[in-house]
Amino acid sequence: MSIKIRFLLSYIGVIVVSIILCLAAGFLMLFTVTGDANSVEHLFKKTYIQKPLTTEEESTFLDLKLLAKKDPNTLLNTNELQNIKQVGIDIAVRKGGEIVYSTDEQNREKLQRFLPEFEEININTRDTIRIDDRFYTYVKFDFYFEDGEQGSIFVLRKASSVAELTRELFPLLLILLVILFVLIIGLLNYLVSRSIIKPVSFLKQAADRIKSGDLDFKVTPASNDEVGQLHLAFEEMRIRLKESTELQIKYEENRKELLSNISHDLKTPITSIIGYVEGIRDGVANTPEKTAKYLSTISLKARDLDSLIDELFLFSKLDLKREPFFFEKVDLVPFIKDISEEVQFDLQPHGIQLDASIIAPSLIVTADREKIKRVMMNIIQNSVKFLDKDEKKIAISLQENNEDVMVIITDNGQGIDPEALPFVFDRFYRSELSRNTATGGSGLGLSIAKQIIHAHGGIIEADSNLGEGTSVYFTLKKGDHRETDFAD
Ligand SMILES: Nc1ncnc2c1ncn2[C@@H]1O[C@H](COP(=O)(O)OP(=O)(O)OP(=O)(O)O)[C@@H](O)[C@H]1O
Ligand SMILES: [Mg+2]
Repeated sequence: MSIKIRFLLSYIGVIVVSIILCLAAGFLMLFTVTGDANSVEHLFKKTYIQKPLTTEEESTFLDLKLLAKKDPNTLLNTNELQNIKQVGIDIAVRKGGEIVYSTDEQNREKLQRFLPEFEEININTRDTIRIDDRFYTYVKFDFYFEDGEQGSIFVLRKASSVAELTRELFPLLLILLVILFVLIIGLLNYLVSRSIIKPVSFLKQAADRIKSGDLDFKVTPASNDEVGQLHLAFEEMRIRLKESTELQIKYEENRKELLSNISHDLKTPITSIIGYVEGIRDGVANTPEKTAKYLSTISLKARDLDSLIDELFLFSKLDLKREPFFFEKVDLVPFIKDISEEVQFDLQPHGIQLDASIIAPSLIVTADREKIKRVMMNIIQNSVKFLDKDEKKIAISLQENNEDVMVIITDNGQGIDPEALPFVFDRFYRSELSRNTATGGSGLGLSIAKQIIHAHGGIIEADSNLGEGTSVYFTLKKGDHRETDFAD
């Protein structure tokens, strides 16, 4: 059963029950106030039946009254009475307790029984009486006939009986009730449909669209109620889903690109290794010098391969959180001095100035020596790769903060495009600029660095001005040992 039909049935139920309860409450109230189960009928009599007579009836009554005062015996003359009475008006004349004339011959006897008694001083001249199921409104005038007998004249007016009235009004009331019923149900239906059913079916359509893979639409809540909150939650879900789908697509593209890069990067040294090995085998390297040169090239290429595979392996272990960390207290001042001396040796022949003059006597942080060395080496290698000025400079500096120490590595190389900057720490990311150059690299270096620094509880970021240079900086927590731990 659909929600719409359920709501419809519940409205009908509620309305029917309310009508029954209203009626029951009405009866109960009347009964409580009057203590009489027939009080409804009395109420009807009081409110509905006591209507004034028509002008014709009143004038007939006045004529009769005049006759009763001046010449009462004329009232015993049927012909005379016929003259006075206007058509369709009921009158009755009573003499000495007996009805001597009545236009309503059939009810003569009943009239005699139910019409009110003679009164000397005409006080209760107007009232309503009930004969069987019918109500009569009357006006009365009491007088004496010439022979001294008590006389009364009545002008009567038949009123509808309760049953008759109900019968008369019933179809109208029923139609009104049905119209009201339909209107109330229509209104409730409209309100519920607008506030619940429509938004819910909209969500259903939205879910269908998502199912078919369409995430490019917006779910705007039309209200602040639970349905509106459902819309908001749905919209949030759609956004998250879209983001994750986009990320998935990006990763997928990255993965494909990485595969092709790795294949390429593996293929190139392997091809040359094969070439040189065949050269030696076929006797192309026919002098000991040539052979030695071939062998050293083979060794270099094999090392390149080894380091690429190492990098991939490390990245995947960090990614899977399977790489153990050995945290210890490290004094960054001698640590950086050592690294700079090590790289200085390689950089000097390329005319690169390395400035690592640190003034602080000592700065203790908690770190995994090997891993931080790897981070620094990668950042420095990047700087070396992208140095393009005649005067090539790399600088390492330290900045002490309250809780951590920041290591800053700056170069005056080609810089990073502002559009590429937010992505350089993403896995497998290489900017277009670097792809176009022969710098190589898998795009894993900085993402490995990011994983390592995050495992230390620090941050790593980069600032760059295109054409001017780049600064990569990371933080390490000051202080004590941390347990040997896995990256998390
Ligand atoms: N100092 C820098 N100057 C200019 N561009 C840089 C610098 N450091 C990083 N980049 C850009 O960021 C990209 C990502 O660097 P990352 O170290 O992650 O990868 P890679 O150096 O290309 O490859 P890998 O380090 O795996 O050999 C680089 O390809 C380059 O485009
Ligand atoms: Mg790199």
